[in-house]
Amino acid sequence: MQAANENTLKWRRMEAGDLASVTDIAADVHTDFHEDDIVFLERLKLYPDGCLVLEGAAGRLFGYAISHPWLLYSMPALNSALGRLPDAPTTYYLHDIALLPQSRGTGSAGTVVSILVGQAVEAGLSTMSLVAVNGSAGFWQKNGFKIVSRADLQPKLKTYSDDACFMLRQLQ
Ligand SMILES: CC(C)(COP(=O)(O)OP(=O)(O)OC[C@H]1O[C@@H](n2cnc3c(N)ncnc32)[C@H](O)[C@@H]1OP(=O)(O)O)[C@@H](O)C(=O)NCCC(=O)NCCS
Repeated sequence: MQAANENTLKWRRMEAGDLASVTDIAADVHTDFHEDDIVFLERLKLYPDGCLVLEGAAGRLFGYAISHPWLLYSMPALNSALGRLPDAPTTYYLHDIALLPQSRGTGSAGTVVSILVGQAVEAGLSTMSLVAVNGSAGFWQKNGFKIVSRADLQPKLKTYSDDACFMLRQLQ
């Protein structure tokens, strides 16, 4: 596996034509968390500003980020369509950031968190939140998120994975 050339990696907005590569990346990275293609397509349709891809040389995609305004402490079930976005969102929700292994450690993940913080602030939201899986809580902590331990969130978190935890970052 050859490392991606970090000088060529760049985040750009996701387009419908990227979806096949995005779902391939998801299948590679999230072997325990399958989501149907329709889930990605719906997020992109509902909130294109929150959907980005990490492009390298020759247009090859190495990662993606999916996010959207949502209701705080009301994380969507995995592999489910949202239907619509809330009229009065109370958080900017990071559905997923996933990088292929050869593009990790390049700073690209931190870069997209910063881009999405800008997007959240532009959308007028004062928190970002997410469900951390795959033992990724340490990465999120490095990026300003804190674990929120609330008993009422546990049943939903368990449907993600045993180690899933809810994380929050204050923006303002
Ligand atoms: C999570 C992910 C996006 C992070 O990207 P990355 O390129 O590996 O992260 P970086 O190398 O930029 O790490 C930034 C910092 O976080 C730390 N970090 C990264 N992953 C970590 C982890 N799983 N646990 C603890 N710390 C971690 C790094 O050591 C680094 O610390 P430093 O600044 O002190 O050197 C990437 O590993 C990934 O795609 N993982 C699989 C998908 C996934 O689990 N996504 C999150 C779903 S909630």
